[in-house]
Amino acid sequence: MTDADREADDRRLRAAREHIVAASRPVVLTGAGVSAESGIPTFRGTGGLWRDRDPLALATPQAFAREPALVWEFYSWRRERVRACAPNAAHHALAALEQARPECWLITQNVDGLHRAAGSQRLIELHGNLMIDRCQRCRHERAAVPEDEGAQGPPRCDRCGGSLRPGVVWFGEPVEQIERAFELAAQADLVLVVGTSGVVEPAASVARVARQAGASVIEINPDESLLTAIADVSIRGAAAQVLPRLLAGLT
Ligand code: OAD
Repeated sequence: MTDADREADDRRLRAAREHIVAASRPVVLTGAGVSAESGIPTFRGTGGLWRDRDPLALATPQAFAREPALVWEFYSWRRERVRACAPNAAHHALAALEQARPECWLITQNVDGLHRAAGSQRLIELHGNLMIDRCQRCRHERAAVPEDEGAQGPPRCDRCGGSLRPGVVWFGEPVEQIERAFELAAQADLVLVVGTSGVVEPAASVARVARQAGASVIEINPDESLLTAIADVSIRGAAAQVLPRLLAGLT
């Protein structure tokens, strides 16, 4: 990095900090990139297959209906990974932002529960939570238990005997609390977009709705994303490095 690059970086960081200081109703939208430094792989760009299968193709109700044991095994593998991971400096910085700015809401596409583990409470998990089992029949929910992770196929519901499934949103299913997320976005004066490719809807539109309603948009991502075009400031870097610097003294 040249001195000129470093100066440009500092300028962007200062500009972003000014937006944050001026905001009275900030909203944060996060994606898989925020958990990358906790050791959880992102969905796109890593070329990661699981047993020669595309993980995105396993994240559908059709895949679960067709191959329940395989999909259960895939999610058990993901659960094991998440159990071994802890929130990183980005999750902690965002939880501290909420402490300092109680009007701040965090809207995440992540299902790993790491924002909650870091202490975020004003939190919307658009795609559900990996660590919850939900009954397909009676919709009863319970915390996932590690003993089920070796099961040959989905376990049964204690209440009705129906098949349990992971409490995540699969492609083609309605996204949780999306109306509330859009409402918060429409009222926001700042949206901080962290670690998302902006490819998946309706989540990406949370940033677009905020923008259309007049909010400033700050993006933190090592690469360009589909939301770069609407960003007032794009900071290129890893969330766990950038966020603590960006929010230092503001939380
Ligand atoms: P993606 O995997 O599509 O995008 C991850 C983004 O994080 C990319 O833009 C990367 O450049 C960026 N990134 C990588 N490392 C980073 C780091 N250390 N710090 C900051 N950013 C980093 O993940 P999402 O946008 O979250 O949905 O994907 C959205 C949805 O697609 C997921 O919630 C999931 C998936 O299918 C469902 O499962 C329904």
